[in-house]
Amino acid sequence: MTKVITYGTYDMLHYGHVKLLERAKALGDYLIVGVTSDDYDKTRGKINNQQSLMERIAAVKATGIADEIIVEEYDGQKIDDIRRLGVDIFTVGSDWTGTFDYLNEYCKVVYLPRTEGVSSTEVRAEKRKLRIGLVGTAVFRTKFVKEARYVNGVEIAGICASKPNEETELKDLFYTDDFDQLLNCVDAVYIISKPENHYSDCKKALLAGKHVLCESPIAYSIEQCRELYKLAKERDLILMDAIKTAYSTAYERLILMAKGGKIGNVISVDSVCTSLRDGISIEGTDLSMKWNSMCGWAPAAMLPIFQMFGTEYTDKTFYTKFQSKKDNIDAFTKINFVYPSGVASVKVAKGAKSEGELIITGTKGYIYVPAPWWKTDYFEVRYENPEENKRFFYQLDGEGIRYEIVAFSKAIESKRNMSYISEKISEAISGVIDDFNNRKNMIEIQ
Ligand code: CTP
Repeated sequence: MTKVITYGTYDMLHYGHVKLLERAKALGDYLIVGVTSDDYDKTRGKINNQQSLMERIAAVKATGIADEIIVEEYDGQKIDDIRRLGVDIFTVGSDWTGTFDYLNEYCKVVYLPRTEGVSSTEVRAEKRKLRIGLVGTAVFRTKFVKEARYVNGVEIAGICASKPNEETELKDLFYTDDFDQLLNCVDAVYIISKPENHYSDCKKALLAGKHVLCESPIAYSIEQCRELYKLAKERDLILMDAIKTAYSTAYERLILMAKGGKIGNVISVDSVCTSLRDGISIEGTDLSMKWNSMCGWAPAAMLPIFQMFGTEYTDKTFYTKFQSKKDNIDAFTKINFVYPSGVASVKVAKGAKSEGELIITGTKGYIYVPAPWWKTDYFEVRYENPEENKRFFYQLDGEGIRYEIVAFSKAIESKRNMSYISEKISEAISGVIDDFNNRKNMIEIQ
């Protein structure tokens, strides 16, 4: 029996794929099809497949041509598969000619003619692109524009900001200082204005019927946050909290592991996020344009705490050193949270530096994420006996921003909020910012 194997993404299965599968099957008696997993596709820079792995597998299965379907998950898997499954022929379309010649050492390699005039890319492109407008001036927006270029089916349609675009990345984009004008030419907005404007900017966009991705905190109080989510629901719009860490695969996995009991019962979550880059402590800096440490860092730092313990903490204390009380700019804030079954702490600073790590303490072991943990691609699960320690690495491209954009565009398309950050967590974050602004349970340090 001659065994043949072929690999592909098979997004939105088209007749080019079917022809390829038929030709592959004709090379032997038994056809194995490797469908690439979403994670593997991300690492190759192919992003925003329109269909999930399950849907793509189902489509290949429905052709009735494959005798066996496997999932391709990592680099180098092809050699493993060929050996393990006793494959005689490896085949792919002629667009790959030469790429897989190295497999000749293990089996015969055949490049089959590719069907002209059709590809998943073209099928996806026939759909109208999602036009996103940017609102605000924070420097982070440049990263967002760059990252959006990696996502299929999305385009940045313009920017609303009070001063023209100076950064080269943004120069060619449509610029306006009139929010209404921007809203008129987009389907959705990404809000990165100053935190005190988030609520009014979100509200305006939602009232104009636009989907919203907003940097955290979405609002300055729980009530305002609730009002925005309600508004979005009533209008069938997506409102999503933009904390990029939530969209990192490694981060998602470590939270699942901690929740799944890998380190026993979780007793403490401690996260630290600091950076001096903003220069808030430099004499003469215009603080009116700056985000304080709380708004800049605390939403990301609180995320693992609320995801692990929930949002119903019984007590919370702030320890804050202000840079300028008048501008509400804190140089450093530590927050202690108390829960019935655990405690947590957040340390954020723009005017102090520390090790940016995340540690989740459990009764059997702990999870350690080295700095900068908010761009998680690596973590360790550690135990008393170091021989049991395990290390995990998951590729993170673009700091999670491109996956966030994918999640946003998929949520809009499916009309289902697929945010990795629950409404409850968005509300809790806004509530903590509210308490900070009102100096509730705050001990000031000089
Ligand atoms: N294929 C083909 N003819 C086409 C398109 C794809 O023979 N018109 C083959 C590819 O050569 C590959 C397999 O089908 O062996 C799976 O290809 P995949 O990359 O999933 O599909 P594409 O349509 O090429 O996807 P994209 O446009 O995203 O690159």
